Amino acid sequence: MGWNTWNTFGTKINEKLIKETAEAMIASGMRDAGYKYIVLDDAWMTRKRDPNGNLIADPRKFPSGMKALGDFLHEKGFKFGIYNCAGTKTCAGYPGGRGHEYQDARTYASWGVDYLKYDWCNHGTADPQETYKTMRDALHAAGRPVVFSLCEWGNNKPWEWAQDVGHLWRTTGDISDCWDCKKKYSMGFKIILDSQAGLEEYAGPDHWNDPDMMEVGNRGLTLAESRAHFSLWCILAAPLMAGNDVRKMSDEVRDILTDKEVIAIDQDPLGRQGYRFMEHPGKEIWVKELSDGGWAVCFLNTGDDVLTMRINWLHLSFLSGTYEIRDLWQKKDIGTTKNNFTADIASHDVLLFKLTPVK
Ligand code: GLA
Repeated sequence: MGWNTWNTFGTKINEKLIKETAEAMIASGMRDAGYKYIVLDDAWMTRKRDPNGNLIADPRKFPSGMKALGDFLHEKGFKFGIYNCAGTKTCAGYPGGRGHEYQDARTYASWGVDYLKYDWCNHGTADPQETYKTMRDALHAAGRPVVFSLCEWGNNKPWEWAQDVGHLWRTTGDISDCWDCKKKYSMGFKIILDSQAGLEEYAGPDHWNDPDMMEVGNRGLTLAESRAHFSLWCILAAPLMAGNDVRKMSDEVRDILTDKEVIAIDQDPLGRQGYRFMEHPGKEIWVKELSDGGWAVCFLNTGDDVLTMRINWLHLSFLSGTYEIRDLWQKKDIGTTKNNFTADIASHDVLLFKLTPVK
């Protein structure tokens, strides 16, 4: 869990933004809710390496340098994440890592980096498995434990080979702050959600599918859509990387991002990724098995109008026995699965339940 610069700030990042974000994450309760990794995405460096081939933090954006920024983040109780690319250049045209893997890994270690997101632009004819393994080995050789986040967009089915390479891997192209829009290189969260169905068998502790960073709280989503996006990323056991301007978020958005009961679904120690149990025009049910023998069940209204959802728990065939039901967003216990349940769901909103077996 953490926060990444890209979704809101793109290439316009600097030391002041990172420090203000860290302070805001402390004040809002995000850090204590589990958002530990603060990740600088593309464009933190100068356009060229130095004469010895070293990466240099852009002194205009980061005048105190990366070591000092890492120290600041560590003192504040965060972990320090950074970005580069497996190709010759990053997606925004800054120096990529190709041919400099061991050197760069040593640089990151000297700065106290704890997390590396490694992109896939400008890779030429490079083989993805070999390329990412090289960087994995380089990080290992540098001697500092680093979370290795593969960002090759699912092009080469990393879920089939990256378990021993990285800790998480992107499964799709980039997310956008909309429900189901399609842009040249990015798409709405509902489109990404659809493409996760079937990938659940590949994820587990220390090797996660990554459906991309969150757009929760960003302009293009209604509050209902932000709640649905967050709920479903938790059902997917997705890495929860916030991507909004946390210095300016509303109380409602803060409440979504820091909801401890919902985060607990995402972080459940069983580490199962949830799956789509049912899809009908206008509605879907996504479910996730939990370590206490219970289930998280998410009803999603995919239509444009209010949906009256009538739930007969007997139809959820994966359940066995009786469960107590908690409505996680309403913060209410609503009885057991012996009784049918009816509720209205607004357009693009969810009902999110935690079912706990009755002993
Ligand atoms: C790619 C990645 C994004 C972001 C940008 C930075 O598009 O998929 O997440 O890192 O590059 O340029």
